[in-house]
Amino acid sequence: MIALSRHGCFLAVAAAAVLCLASCGAVASPLPRLNIDIDAITVAGISAGGAFASQFHVAHSASLAGAAIFAGPPFFCSQANVDIAVTSCMKTPDLIDVDALAAEAVNAALINSIDDTRHMRDAKVWLFTGKKDTVVHPGVVEKTKAFYEHFVNSSSNIKMHDTFPAEHAWITSGYGEMCDFLGDPYINNCSFDAVGDFLNHLYDGKIKPSGSFNAKHLLRFEQAQYIESGNPEAISFGNAGFVYVPKQCASGTQCRLVVTFHGCNQDVDTIGEEFVIHNGLNEYAETNNLVILYPQVEKSAVIPYNPKGCFDWWGYAGINFATKGGAQIRAVATMIHAITGQFGANPTRTRFHPLP
Ligand SMILES: *[C@@H]1O[C@H](CO)[C@@H](O)[C@H](O)[C@H]1NC(C)=O
Ligand SMILES: *[C@@H]1O[C@H](CO)[C@@H](O)[C@H](O)[C@H]1NC(C)=O
Repeated sequence: MIALSRHGCFLAVAAAAVLCLASCGAVASPLPRLNIDIDAITVAGISAGGAFASQFHVAHSASLAGAAIFAGPPFFCSQANVDIAVTSCMKTPDLIDVDALAAEAVNAALINSIDDTRHMRDAKVWLFTGKKDTVVHPGVVEKTKAFYEHFVNSSSNIKMHDTFPAEHAWITSGYGEMCDFLGDPYINNCSFDAVGDFLNHLYDGKIKPSGSFNAKHLLRFEQAQYIESGNPEAISFGNAGFVYVPKQCASGTQCRLVVTFHGCNQDVDTIGEEFVIHNGLNEYAETNNLVILYPQVEKSAVIPYNPKGCFDWWGYAGINFATKGGAQIRAVATMIHAITGQFGANPTRTRFHPLP
């Protein structure tokens, strides 16, 4: 077990000490300001982190190029109701009304709670659901696809994998448990390079083969400075977040940013740095000029009530959780702004066509 002390320093004990690499004991630092291609920022996530990736994408669609989602429900599926979250949005997809959720998005955009949904027209969306997923029913992810079909202009922009015999997990081509295993660390080896596949989809097929993970490039940062109250606990965030910065990105080369959200029970207090090290993105970062940002949620037993350490997709940190005003969405947007120097207003964005 690895515990994160109040001072943000890892206390590693027993076997898990091996997970505590070069970042251990590093002085908490702010996020680095880097040269990031503002037109090529994407998000990725698994399960609750997939729900969060989707809602972050929909909220900030004018500033994002796409989303990769493992086993995540559509935008605002829970409607701020935890009972709907754990029933319709996980088990009984027939009860999910995609037309109503799409209408919610259009209405939210009308009052500028989220970006104009027309910015999703040229989004790239990659979805994965395992045939053996017993946590989030494959039909839920079909609804996520249907939601995006309301807004994305071309069906070739949406890629869906639903044929692998996978349980509920982030999928790799060699790391983790068996493909149909359910449990820690929720990273399963399905002999399928899901990360390479989604990067190629999000970035127009131009992804080079992966390189080698370098522990020195995985940096910890204090999340508090990107949270309005200065108190991560207030929004169920942990003290430390992580960012993977290949050497060339640290020294001025223009790089692309992928913001990645872990699933429930995948935060550093629960599984150490296993998710941030072994999800497969860092290796691609080295050879493709990518920076990977890993915001971190922390379990919270009281208020806000988040006992499994999930990103907020049902409103525990506020009723506006799915919008640009949502506390966690604001914190992540502030982190991106710190790295890129601009986010949210898109003064110089060039990729997207102006709206009519
Ligand atoms: C869809 O979006 C792409 C990329 O922005 C654009 O080139 C294309 O013309 C759009 N197609 C339609 C039918 O709007
Ligand atoms: C991944 O799974 C495949 C198929 O079960 C297996 O052959 C391979 O050895 C596994 N890789 C690792 C690193 O465990």
